[in-house]
Amino acid sequence: MSKVIKIKAEREYDVLMTEDWRHELVEIAKSRTRCAVILTQVMRDQIGNLEADDCEFSYYLIPDGEEGKSPASLLKLWNWLAAGGFTRSDLIVGIGGGAVTDIAGFAAATYLRGIDWVAIPTSVAGAVDAAIGGKTGANLDYGKNMIGSFHSPITVLIDLSWFTTLSDRDFAAGLAEVIKCGFIRDEEILKRIQGQSLASIRSNNELVADLIYRSVAIKASVVGNDFKEGFEREILNYGHTFGHAVEQHSKYSLKHGECVSIGMAYMAHLQHSLGLITDEVHKLHFSILQGIGLPTHYKGGDWLELRAIMSRDKKSRGHSVRFVVISKIGITDRLTDVAQGELLSAYEKVCS
Ligand code: GLY
Repeated sequence: MSKVIKIKAEREYDVLMTEDWRHELVEIAKSRTRCAVILTQVMRDQIGNLEADDCEFSYYLIPDGEEGKSPASLLKLWNWLAAGGFTRSDLIVGIGGGAVTDIAGFAAATYLRGIDWVAIPTSVAGAVDAAIGGKTGANLDYGKNMIGSFHSPITVLIDLSWFTTLSDRDFAAGLAEVIKCGFIRDEEILKRIQGQSLASIRSNNELVADLIYRSVAIKASVVGNDFKEGFEREILNYGHTFGHAVEQHSKYSLKHGECVSIGMAYMAHLQHSLGLITDEVHKLHFSILQGIGLPTHYKGGDWLELRAIMSRDKKSRGHSVRFVVISKIGITDRLTDVAQGELLSAYEKVCS
């Protein structure tokens, strides 16, 4: 049965949890003349050809992962759209993980100063985070999503059947963002995951649907209050300040969600040593993350390099690194001007 979550951003649109993304997409495409589907070769092989009344579908193959989000890859995509004569009344559709929907959305935001697009996330991370909330972007050598735009899709279609083909590693990495939603807004998420293994979660479709629904609902509410990340939306970056630094430092060899997991472990240590969270909440971070096989250690880093990357975080103001913190599960705040010794000490615990 389909479920709808409404998002109020620069316009109102639906996130539809559906058992038939193809049918839903065809319904949307019927009113268009042309539709540019952006996806990887693997997805292209999986989906075959789409057909909808008078709509002509064209397919653009993009490299998987962050490679597809380089300026060179974006330029090729813009030129393909222009060479194909796509117009403002046509539609872009991104089918894939977060990297694919990010770049498809950014192409839609910028080509002809903006055309409509539909996001079809095929990973857990994409469904609960990247495809929700209208952030689109591409990478520079200096960091991920250093260029981008807020440009909401007209619809997001989440079909859980995609997730059955994900590797355990990808599935668990996506759950890191779900767990993050639990810490910042919804203790129920943590209760449902606590004590479960990855296999027991994966084999329980109802639980997976519930976790995805809850996470999307949290993101919809946060984005509805603060679309352009004035302040509240930053809470979605719990664990991401250190996590992004690890991601970049590891040259993207770790998955985004794995880095977020390490980032939440870092925050657990930092907040605990500053007396911001109890022993129980500190321990909960590790039992939940480790319980589903997510990493909570990072041994590969040089602290000064990681700290330098953290200071370039988009939440930073001036020279001060700004962290999203929780005072209790579900209650967030910001932390700035942390003593260097505290930052280093939390890092040493993540390394040990
Ligand atoms: N991924 C964080 C956000 O969408 O704001």
